[in-house]
Amino acid sequence: MHSPLEIGPLDPATADEVRSLAAAAHESDGVAPLSEQPLLRLGVDDEDLTHVVTYDDSGTVTGYAQIDRGGDVASAELVVHPAARRRRTGRMLLRTAQRDATLPARSGEPGQHGRTLHVWAHGDLPAARAFAADAGLVVVRELWKMGLDLRSGTWERPEVPAGLRLRTFRPGPDDAAWLRVNARAFAHHPEQGRLTQADLDARVAEDWFDPEGFFLLEREDGSLAGFLWTKVPTDPSVSPAGATREGEIYVVGVDPDAQGQGLGKVLTAVGLAHLAGQGLQRAVLYVDGDNAAATRTYLGAGFGKDTVDVQYGPPTVHPVTQSSPSDATMKP
Ligand SMILES: CC(C)(COP(=O)(O)OP(=O)(O)OC[C@H]1O[C@@H](n2cnc3c(N)ncnc32)[C@H](O)[C@@H]1OP(=O)(O)O)[C@@H](O)C(=O)NCCC(=O)NCCS
Repeated sequence: MHSPLEIGPLDPATADEVRSLAAAAHESDGVAPLSEQPLLRLGVDDEDLTHVVTYDDSGTVTGYAQIDRGGDVASAELVVHPAARRRRTGRMLLRTAQRDATLPARSGEPGQHGRTLHVWAHGDLPAARAFAADAGLVVVRELWKMGLDLRSGTWERPEVPAGLRLRTFRPGPDDAAWLRVNARAFAHHPEQGRLTQADLDARVAEDWFDPEGFFLLEREDGSLAGFLWTKVPTDPSVSPAGATREGEIYVVGVDPDAQGQGLGKVLTAVGLAHLAGQGLQRAVLYVDGDNAAATRTYLGAGFGKDTVDVQYGPPTVHPVTQSSPSDATMKP
């Protein structure tokens, strides 16, 4: 018999139960409660990760939370089975996650306390909004899902600027260069910039991985200026028969040394031409709402905002200080 609460990496059977729980929530809420990274890490035992599973009296999994303390701010994704809601399971998972967040990160100062926890709410559903409000949390970050109907135009692969060439990614030989440019391009991004060799390997091992949809822009000396990775789901539950077939602009990055030269625009056009060439009807992507350079690029390419995922966190407390002339120019 399981105890009502278990904390630790999941064995394969429990990981399967959590996947079924997430699928039940997806079915009932119309939006997937856990994103790709936590699903790929269900069985991962890492000192910056905590897995929390709740069970009912019969030993059935009722809820799951994954807490990641690896970034500047700890983040969590949590889900309660639709049949087990409004029994304070979510509240217990959230409290556990908030306490867990005060543990020191591997890279953090030992004994660091009061670390902030941000919780993802995919689709920002009414239940999540009420739940967050009950816990005194406010929206601290918005992630936009954007979409573009590929049937609305013709998508040809653009000319590559002089001094650059386009080729596809080779798993293995290109790993180190890609990880380096990804970390540089996403240095300020809370998740993407922290991807490791193990994270890359996990994606390359997925059914959907296709090196022919993963493009590199190289300089003449062979160094990497930017990349664009597409993702076309192979899971039939993601693209049911008769539904619009979607492909994702999974990640686009330009090395900081090559930013501001229009390469993001070129790479986006390469991705759209690739997705259209695969016979897909719609292109989608996820982008932080406050990433002006990226949202402008995608709006310019014809994307529109579909849905918003939000992160909830504690309201920021502004210390009361004496005002000085420079305060007037500071952001609230
Ligand atoms: C959000 C979620 C985790 C809540 O789980 P839960 O176990 O049902 O929540 P709890 O029973 O602990 O609810 C605590 C409080 O939140 C509020 N709340 C939760 N669900 C609510 C709903 N559907 N409508 C109104 N208020 C709600 C209530 O104030 C509730 O207290 P009460 O039952 O005493 O009134 C669950 O709906 C879920 O898994 N949603 C999909 C995944 C998701 O959105 N996760 C992100 C959470 S930020």
